[in-house]
Amino acid sequence: MRVFCYQMKVMKKLLLKNGTVVSSKGKLKADVLVEGGKIVKVSAKISDKDAKIIDCKGKFIIPGVIDAHVHLREPGATHKEDFETGSSAALKGGVTTVLDMPNNNPSIDTAERLAAKYKLAKGRMKCGHKFFIAATGDNLVELKKAKDACGVKLFMSKSTGGLVVGDDADLEKIFAFAKGLPLVVHAEDEARIEQRKKEFEGDLSPSVHSLIRDDETVYIAIKKALHLAKKHGTKLHIAHVSTKKEMEALKKFKDKNITAEVATHHLFLNKDAYASHGKRSDSVTYYDCNFVKINPPIRSEEDRLAMWSALKSGLIDIVVTDHAPHTLDEKKKPYLEAPSGVPGLETLLPLMLDAVNHGELSLERMVEAMCEKPAEIFGLVGKGFVKAGYDADLVVVDMSKEGVVGSDGYATKCGWSPYDGWKLVGWPEKVVCGGKVV
Ligand code: DOR
Ligand code: ZN
Repeated sequence: MRVFCYQMKVMKKLLLKNGTVVSSKGKLKADVLVEGGKIVKVSAKISDKDAKIIDCKGKFIIPGVIDAHVHLREPGATHKEDFETGSSAALKGGVTTVLDMPNNNPSIDTAERLAAKYKLAKGRMKCGHKFFIAATGDNLVELKKAKDACGVKLFMSKSTGGLVVGDDADLEKIFAFAKGLPLVVHAEDEARIEQRKKEFEGDLSPSVHSLIRDDETVYIAIKKALHLAKKHGTKLHIAHVSTKKEMEALKKFKDKNITAEVATHHLFLNKDAYASHGKRSDSVTYYDCNFVKINPPIRSEEDRLAMWSALKSGLIDIVVTDHAPHTLDEKKKPYLEAPSGVPGLETLLPLMLDAVNHGELSLERMVEAMCEKPAEIFGLVGKGFVKAGYDADLVVVDMSKEGVVGSDGYATKCGWSPYDGWKLVGWPEKVVCGGKVV
């Protein structure tokens, strides 16, 4: 029995040899030894005859990517995604930890529902995960009880699921409450959206979405959120910023308690996608569907470029997917009925590596924005770094590998991607999650 245990232990050792380890501080040629789900040693020329060797010559080793904003749709919408398919999509894309949003059915707005969601995920999530709890305006007691939430999600406007806090007095209470736990805010102003819907009534072209939920819509909401955060000392995290105007507000207010994320679609798509994306792919027909209908919407090229410079400068802290799968049939419905959101877990890392190859940002900053900073903001102990003592969540990256998005199908249940057919250079080659090659 003892020998068996010993052998089991030995089998679990992994040695990543001859690679280059990346952190925000730089690149280091080093071997990485993994045992029992942890990184046990990072140094030059490690040898261990009991370890399974992975040769990483010519490759980079980065920490497993942390996606701090996903919608895996359980409970309530498992025809779009479920814990198995969502976490498989994550791992396929080099994402080893996901933070999942509470706009489920029912909404995750009590400690009991949060506990039930963790229970539902047990043994089914293949990657690291934590869940948010939703603020509703009258559930402060529940927020207080929800000790294992990674943060509180606040929708200032309606999106998928219908959660919204529109009342100023309720907002004030929530911002005053959320001191320690990150308060993640979907900042779009509901009143302006309602007013603009009336102004554009009758226009059913998908691109009207960017006009209705315009840059003023997010500007009004972000200013309100930033003022409240300053007033109450809230740990505020602004979800999916998308416009140049928001950057002006963020610049004024940014401090250590205020952070922001950008979603991949606001880095890689602009308003032209409403028209052009129908023609991108031979494998899937996207014509006449609202498949790039997203909240907040895709923006102008100027806005898209502003996202890149804010990401480079650190004004935007992290990159997320806002992975929000809907079936193609749902997305093919007419404008008013089509739901908002696009999948993104499988394409996050390849898109960003391709951008690194094009000189958009450094690999070091990418690792900071997709591994180190999300771990820091959301207090994910043991995640985000390739260091001894940390969890063995690692991605071996081949910067010269060429690939086409969707050419080997999709792991996400919704089975499509807005980037289908895109040729990208730089792909994850091996993904290690919790010490296991997946
Ligand atoms: O486009 C979006 N889709 N924005 C959100 O805020 C929610 C998400 C979803 O859950 O579908
Ligand atoms: Zn979202």
